[in-house]
Amino acid sequence: EEADDPRPALYHALRFAARFYFEQLTQSEAGQVARAYLKQRGIHPEAVRRFGLGYAPNAWDALLKAATEAGIRPEVLEQAGLVLPRKERGGYYDRFRHRLMFPIFSHTGRVVGFGGRLLEPDPEQPKYINTPETPVYHKGRILYGLYQARQALRTQEEAILVEGYTDVIALHQAGIEHVVATSGTALTPDQARLLARYVRRVVLLFDADAAGQQAALRSIELFLERGLNVYVVSLPPGEDPDSFVRAKGARAFQEYLRQRRRDFVTFHYELARRQGRLDTPEGEAEVARTIVSAIARLPDPLLREPYVRRAAELLRIQQVRLLEILEAQLTPSSR
Ligand code: UTP
Ligand code: MN
Ligand code: MN
Ligand code: MN
Ligand code: MN
Repeated sequence: EEADDPRPALYHALRFAARFYFEQLTQSEAGQVARAYLKQRGIHPEAVRRFGLGYAPNAWDALLKAATEAGIRPEVLEQAGLVLPRKERGGYYDRFRHRLMFPIFSHTGRVVGFGGRLLEPDPEQPKYINTPETPVYHKGRILYGLYQARQALRTQEEAILVEGYTDVIALHQAGIEHVVATSGTALTPDQARLLARYVRRVVLLFDADAAGQQAALRSIELFLERGLNVYVVSLPPGEDPDSFVRAKGARAFQEYLRQRRRDFVTFHYELARRQGRLDTPEGEAEVARTIVSAIARLPDPLLREPYVRRAAELLRIQQVRLLEILEAQLTPSSR
């Protein structure tokens, strides 16, 4: 009947799959290859349990068979994004094969989808594949790790936002638990709203590449508009939080986070300087305008003042000049 809610059956199938992959990883002979991979990456058994990691066997129907035996219909598995219909001769096949599995939990702790990582580099295949949009999985509304981070978010009163699954896990292992990931896509307004339910302050810790920098600039605006305080920590070129914390060790990494934290105005300024955008007078003016337009997004008028002062000091432009531009950019309702 079409009035029936499909979601309970999907949650059941997804929970079954998470258990199946977890058992394959932790107990099966076939899981040895994935256990070796985790060991080499420095992911410990405790993190495997905490994040419910798993292994999807190297077969076309491993999950399909096990789930069918457990009475789960293939149509339900398909709707959950776990299997795909075969093009010819009917039937289905597993979407995730020979991959390390990262279950994705809703903020209430239900398994809603998966990310699956290649175990060996393969130029023919994407490094990660993810559950497609389903009735229970909407990529733009999920933050990976939120369920595991929820207590730490409250006590730390801030969130560290990273890009990847393994960044979340590596930081947890380093004793930093107030961390969530966008999972590689640009932050969405829904994700910003979701995080704003837990914290007032966000620290962006993205990969040190062009994509990560772009992601930081876009995320800053979304958080500022929601009234969150945004800070940014830049990593050395080529590093991501996972690689960097493993290279430096937990203590040195935590110290780095403390010392390299920049408010968003200082981040804009330092980025522009590194990019050589302050080398000409017209470049300086352009950067000033960009920074002021970010400040204009702050809903709290009282907060604009200290940021304008900071921008004026960094750019060595008179504060009153920046305030003039700010005035011109403010919409009548935000004045
Ligand atoms: P990265 O390419 O930075 O991967 O993508 P990573 O997290 O550092 O992973 P490792 O260390 O190589 O294992 C960041 C995030 O973007 C998403 C994943 O969520 C990944 O964690 N992504 C990346 C995809 O969905 N598909 C891809 O092919 C690549
Ligand atoms: Mn949808
Ligand atoms: Mn990256
Ligand atoms: Mn990365
Ligand atoms: Mn990485």
